[in-house]
Amino acid sequence: MARQFFVGGNFKMNGTKDSVTKIIDNLNSAELPTSVEVVIAPPAPYLALAVAENKQPTIAVSSQNVFDKASGAYTGEISPAQVLDLGAKWTLTGHSERRTIIKESDEFIADKTKFALESGLSVILCIGETLEERKAGITLDVCARQLDAVSKIVSDWSNIVVAYEPVWAIGTGLAATPQDAQDTHKGIRDHLVKTIGAEQAAAVRILYGGSVNGKNAPEFKDKADVDGFLVGGASLKPEFVDIIKSRL
Ligand code: G3P
Repeated sequence: MARQFFVGGNFKMNGTKDSVTKIIDNLNSAELPTSVEVVIAPPAPYLALAVAENKQPTIAVSSQNVFDKASGAYTGEISPAQVLDLGAKWTLTGHSERRTIIKESDEFIADKTKFALESGLSVILCIGETLEERKAGITLDVCARQLDAVSKIVSDWSNIVVAYEPVWAIGTGLAATPQDAQDTHKGIRDHLVKTIGAEQAAAVRILYGGSVNGKNAPEFKDKADVDGFLVGGASLKPEFVDIIKSRL
């Protein structure tokens, strides 16, 4: 099945008005392929700026997280409705930094994913194992557990993109090899066949994230189950355009 190539840029807690504006102006001046879907996720304070500054029709804006309530006494949280109100169309959920640093549970991430979808956002659902889990040979068990928490309460996956991000490759400069990524993505897709059905499993995009850059992105080109990337550090740099073009 042909799945549209997808590149996400997760700016994480980085940037200022000026630097976010510069990144988007650089993207605006690039000749981006119409065949590639791009989503950029600036820090929440700059969502409106990113929406206003973006001129590329193939680029949408995403939050990096949302809460699982519409409004109320939840100090510091952001609702999907507020993200939509700013003109953003996506959110990340379950990023490993929120699982490990903020201690978000699989169930809480699933609730937020469900609520974001019900509110009208599309979701990049992040999963992935730690180095200890990889060494213990339970990578796919961990990914299955994280995915099952969502598939237990969400049956329509048409607005979900999965991002497999091995924690040990994030920010380390040590990307997984393209074959390792392909093997894990295939295992993820095979698991999704069992939980969300063959048709949806074939359609869902599975992104690889973890030290992707302009140099290594083309190496994933022939990996059938790697449908794109979720990029951290390199999304803040001009090479993000090279990553967007890496499948051409
Ligand atoms: O969400 C993407 C991020 O976790 C990957 O980070 O800096 O290794 O590309 P980085």
